[in-house]
Amino acid sequence: MGDMAGSGNQGKLRAEEARADFVARFPDYEKTALLDDLRATEYRRLDERGHVYLDYTGGSLHAESQLQKHHQLLRSSVLGNPHSASPASVAMTEHVERTRRHILNYFGARAEDYLLVFTANATAALKLVGESFPFAPGSRYLLTFDNHNSVNGIREFARAKGASIHYAPLAMPDLRLEVARVDALLGEADPARANLFAYPAQSNFSGVKHPLDFVAKAQSKGWRVLLDAAALVPTSRLDLSAAQPDFVTLSFYKMFGYPTGVGALLIRRSALASLKRPWFAGGTVNFASVQGQAHVLSPNEAAFEDGTLNYLSIPAVDIGLLHLQSIGMETIAERVRCLTGWLLEELLALRHSNGRAMVRIYGPANMQARGGTVTLNLYDPQGHLLDYRRIEELAGTENISLRTGCFCNPGAGEIAEGLTEEDMRAGFALGEEINLMSFVKMMQERGHKSAGAIRASIGLATNFSDVWRFLRFIAGFRDQTQLAVGNVSFDIESCRVIRDGS
Ligand SMILES: Cc1ncc(COP(=O)(O)O)c(C=O)c1O
Repeated sequence: MGDMAGSGNQGKLRAEEARADFVARFPDYEKTALLDDLRATEYRRLDERGHVYLDYTGGSLHAESQLQKHHQLLRSSVLGNPHSASPASVAMTEHVERTRRHILNYFGARAEDYLLVFTANATAALKLVGESFPFAPGSRYLLTFDNHNSVNGIREFARAKGASIHYAPLAMPDLRLEVARVDALLGEADPARANLFAYPAQSNFSGVKHPLDFVAKAQSKGWRVLLDAAALVPTSRLDLSAAQPDFVTLSFYKMFGYPTGVGALLIRRSALASLKRPWFAGGTVNFASVQGQAHVLSPNEAAFEDGTLNYLSIPAVDIGLLHLQSIGMETIAERVRCLTGWLLEELLALRHSNGRAMVRIYGPANMQARGGTVTLNLYDPQGHLLDYRRIEELAGTENISLRTGCFCNPGAGEIAEGLTEEDMRAGFALGEEINLMSFVKMMQERGHKSAGAIRASIGLATNFSDVWRFLRFIAGFRDQTQLAVGNVSFDIESCRVIRDGS
């Protein structure tokens, strides 16, 4: 990159001055100093490698002590496949069951209200609900446009069983749900049928925190509620003694980085009997016979835990939760609020020399009911979109880890970028050739729109310097035209196409 001097507020200031300005505007940041201490110890590899990691919505980072504690446990114990009577098995079972209790407790879920199924990740948890939910003709599957593809994918189970599928749209520019529209859709269900409403507690696209009061509202109108908490719980508290969704899904690496390969499905006990498993497997049956061609499923969570659990990794979840608890979720949330609030203000202040805005943010521009996920695109002084793939590559050369694309959340992207049903039909007409890249190319050839964006996400180990370096990087695109794609001029402030050169 040539000009890295930047523009807007932060371009005028040097790092220390910028930090002082930041702390003056977000004084509560100082209350999170514990995380600076941890950054210097537990997460020191970031600074040792000069790495700016801003993909916490992709996956959080682990503290060194999490690894040490886990490895120490593995080194000093003889642990075998759980659920048998040998000492090695009994010892492992104790770790698994302790971790199960810890997770329930962490989320304020009483054992009499919820049970917890260990899964490979949030996606596997979602699939368990999708394949087991008793969709039938006359029942409904209601989703929000804002959903991860692993929630969208459940519609194929619903469709195959004859249920109808409905999407609640998002309102521009903040990409929030319209409460009245959701209420209306919830009111359309026949409460005598098996209806499922699925939505994310926090968007992995825009960072929006969707209202948890939809849960009780939907339940009172005859719906089971599936809350995808994967993007919320890394930096916010989820209290299941308040809102009580029927199903909650998450992945632990998103919360504390390590281990990968373990997620959870929390099932409200009152919803358990509604689920019908479509098959059985090793570990899920009390009894199965070949000659009798019958099986009896195990009760409770065991009926959903197919095959051998990732048992050696499960104690690392216990350790990860203790790590988060030792920091305190309020401290993490405060840190994220301050850094994201400042990032948003500074990005929006960035201007080209001609006064035009440089950055378009998809989602709320302030910190009201949103988390630390910031999705954006950059535009040149004439309002042409800059190629986000090249920007990601350039970020990589500066050791900045971002994510670009649609983040497996096509619905939020379609609304954010104004893509229509017709655009999507044109894309699918490509047949087997369609993927995000070929679709982006098609939209550009039609002199049209963007598909995809840049996502920077903030998490527990982020500090001011990370955000500052990212801003300096973005500010380096001031007056930049070389990366422009397409020939449509877009006005960020009014959110309108001002000149279509197609
Ligand atoms: C909101 C949300 N739901 C579900 C998932 C799926 O998580 P996993 O890939 O760990 O199964 C993700 C992952 O990015 C997510 O952000």
